[in-house]
Amino acid sequence: MKIGILTGGGDCPGLNAVIRAIVRKGIFHYNDEFVGFLEGWRGVLNGMTIPLDLKAVAGILPRGGTILRTSRTNPAKREGGIESCIANLKSAGVEALIALGGDDTQSVSQKLHEKGFKVVAVPKTIDNDLAGTDLCFGFDTAVSIATEAIDRVHTTAEAHNRVIVVEVMGRDSGWIALYSGISGGADAILLPERPIDLDEVADRLKRRHDRGSYFSIVVVAEGAKISDETIVERRKPDEFGHVRLGGIGNVLAAEIEKRTGFETRAVVLGHTQRGGPPTAFDRMLATRYGVGAIDLVHQGKFGCMVALKGNDIQSVPIADAISRNRRVSDDLIEVATSLQD
Ligand code: F6P
Repeated sequence: MKIGILTGGGDCPGLNAVIRAIVRKGIFHYNDEFVGFLEGWRGVLNGMTIPLDLKAVAGILPRGGTILRTSRTNPAKREGGIESCIANLKSAGVEALIALGGDDTQSVSQKLHEKGFKVVAVPKTIDNDLAGTDLCFGFDTAVSIATEAIDRVHTTAEAHNRVIVVEVMGRDSGWIALYSGISGGADAILLPERPIDLDEVADRLKRRHDRGSYFSIVVVAEGAKISDETIVERRKPDEFGHVRLGGIGNVLAAEIEKRTGFETRAVVLGHTQRGGPPTAFDRMLATRYGVGAIDLVHQGKFGCMVALKGNDIQSVPIADAISRNRRVSDDLIEVATSLQD
């Protein structure tokens, strides 16, 4: 069978590991042939392809980024875009497509599926907020990077009697902030799931300093809200309607310093969290997803996404995965609040 693969949306560590697993199992066990579409849906719209054989995927398991590159191109924003995608896939001889991406990329996969094209999805986002699966690959790597950064910031904050605010990614949900904040022992963890009460944060830090501490660490997700507002770096939305977030760390640092009198600095981790080699956990998860995805193609389970449920790889309808955002659960937030006064 001739199968297309694409990676769409923000990159994340583990994309190459998924591509490698799909291609190796497909060639060795199903006698498949693969074609890679470059730069996400842009490559499908513009016929930008590369052959994906065993040589093309050799050595890519530990590499971050994606050998197929990526973009936030949305064919649904173009007149007849979905139909053009299907026509281009068919003219390339592609019988089925495996799309690696988050909710935006998979919203396009769903549209192709609804028009009768054979699509299988693989859940990708460091934000870990795709519904239908317990985990997205890339998340574990992002958490490890953020936790190490918090450890490093800890020692310098302690040396200088400073409060340091660490801004991590997390547009609609605070998975990275919560996991790295708990793992890094942060004194306040602020998530999109709970609006920030500046006075409450300042009071908590003051109480901590009254108990004898000279420094504090605050972790904030980029999508956390102050007075119901997110802090935006660029208002012009991308093709999926997202503005560019960023800047809450600096805003928060200024507000904390004003309210407490403690010297406060901000560090924005940004794309550091998305770069570099995947952790062993993400390589394993990505490989299981890749194997699961090519199996779904050969089982004829189109319109489905591979998903982790407990420790099992299963499948869920793409429609379910994109129907809502998976937010941090109350019981996990409770773990964080249990550690605060
Ligand atoms: O992929 C999700 C994400 O990492 C968000 O947390 C963040 O807001 C966004 O991507 C940034 O994307 P870009 O690199 O396109 O600016």
